[in-house]
Amino acid sequence: MQKYLPHFILLLLPVIISCNAPVTSVRQEEDVQQFTEKAGKLSAIAQQTLLKEVSGAIQEGGTVYAVAFCSQKAMILTDSVSKAHDLVITRITNKPRNAANGLKTAMDSAVWQRFEQAVLQKDSIPAGITETGEKGTLVYYKPIFIGMPTCLQCHGEPGKNIDALTMQALNERYPDDNAFNYTVGMLRGLWKITAVGDLSE
Ligand code: HEC
Repeated sequence: MQKYLPHFILLLLPVIISCNAPVTSVRQEEDVQQFTEKAGKLSAIAQQTLLKEVSGAIQEGGTVYAVAFCSQKAMILTDSVSKAHDLVITRITNKPRNAANGLKTAMDSAVWQRFEQAVLQKDSIPAGITETGEKGTLVYYKPIFIGMPTCLQCHGEPGKNIDALTMQALNERYPDDNAFNYTVGMLRGLWKITAVGDLSE
């Protein structure tokens, strides 16, 4: 019996070796899938929350009041959603109102271009894109569109969609504001979601 053992192991060896590589990549694929699912759900919650809050604030106190609300609450809202889910969620864009929301990394810019191209060429637009950073960090991006005319009250054309008082309220808070002249359906920004502690990617 003993003398057959080495053969038995030798026979198994290729199986063990050949299985190793696929096992790791299947594991990684599972990680990516799990992360994408979690991040997709979180961005949907964040989107709903912000929409509800902005519409609610406009109804409650008009657009000028809602500007104050947005500037104070948007970050807090995304922060609290982040903490509850162990993920960091931010909004980024090529034309930020708040300079803190600009495209930050080469990966941000590349993904932004992919979405922009898809919109321009009227291709099917991915619901979300998960990228792997240099250090293996997973980053999820989901497009934010000017989905309704309400957005134009603060992101449309000054004088046409944005009234004078709202403009004044925006100028006071955001002297370098770039977030104007959008029309309905345009790409406005991206949700960017990373695991806690991985924001550098
Ligand atoms: C009442 C005014 C108001 C309305 C209406 C409004 N926004 Fe904004 N939006 C703001 C303000 C103020 C900020 C900056 C928030 C901050 O300081 O983080 C902002 C920031 C953003 C950002 C983050 C990027 C940036 O430019 O800083 C996105 C994306 C965005 N808005 C999308 C939308 C969409 C989509 C809608 C419609 C569903 C909408 N907004 C409606 C006032 C508004």
